[in-house]
Amino acid sequence: MSQSPTAIHKVVREHYAERIENDAACCGDDCCSTNKSLYPADLLATVPAEVSNTSYGCGDPITLASLKPGETVLDLGSGAGLDCLLAAQQVGETGRVIGVDMTPEMIERAQSNAKRVHATNVEFRQGYLEELPVENNTINVIISNCVINLAPDKEKVFAEAFRVLKPGGKLAVSDIVTNGKLPDMVRASLSAWAGCVAGAVEAKDYIAMLEAVGFTGISIQPTYFDKEIIDRALAEMKLTLTGYPQESIYQSVFSARIVAHKPA
Ligand SMILES: C[S@@+](CC[C@H](N)C(=O)[O-])C[C@H]1O[C@@H](n2cnc3c(N)ncnc32)[C@H](O)[C@@H]1O
Repeated sequence: MSQSPTAIHKVVREHYAERIENDAACCGDDCCSTNKSLYPADLLATVPAEVSNTSYGCGDPITLASLKPGETVLDLGSGAGLDCLLAAQQVGETGRVIGVDMTPEMIERAQSNAKRVHATNVEFRQGYLEELPVENNTINVIISNCVINLAPDKEKVFAEAFRVLKPGGKLAVSDIVTNGKLPDMVRASLSAWAGCVAGAVEAKDYIAMLEAVGFTGISIQPTYFDKEIIDRALAEMKLTLTGYPQESIYQSVFSARIVAHKPA
């Protein structure tokens, strides 16, 4: 890997290594248990509880992606592998799923989860979103769940996504974005970055970055405001937002479904 990890990569990697080693949720003891309501119950029921419980996402990219048998899928920041294993069922034996994550502890857990469900059409590769270990023009659909907000150089991530997608391919992700600027004190906090808040960019800038690398047909649909994530990130920072109305941060940070296309 030639991508040099930044201070943000290191903090994020340590945070998620610690989370998975302790079987903890992404930003506290229970916030991600809400993941049970993120996916349709019948979809989650297709994997054992040990697998569905190790989820750190903020949405359901699987339903959004409408995967078809035979497709090749790439999951950006695959974590413990839940979305990859759900995708693997939908693309079937003729399809293939690749998960990429920079955290070795996550890769290890994802591989053991894949063994647990006897998935043979999934592989996990350690790497950075900013330098994907994936060939050009080989992927039908890119999924991702609450990860791109964590990347310090999002334009590079989108350029890499565009490079690996086949012409006509689709990006279908859940992510955290904002409506308006966050206070500087939040932006500057590395723990708020690891908690999926400080790295979130304005929806209009997200769209502009996707367009800048060539994506078309872009849509961002808000799903929910994650008050719990914000509260925990602020508590971890031991921060009270002075001079910034607490309620307005709840209104400005939200989870969204994002779709974009690589022209055919
Ligand atoms: C919030 S967790 C989400 C994991 C998974 N998508 C899920 O829904 O459970 C973020 C994951 O992204 C990975 N990650 C964050 N930034 C990354 C980057 N720049 N390159 C590769 N992986 C990254 C972390 O290691 C972590 O496993």
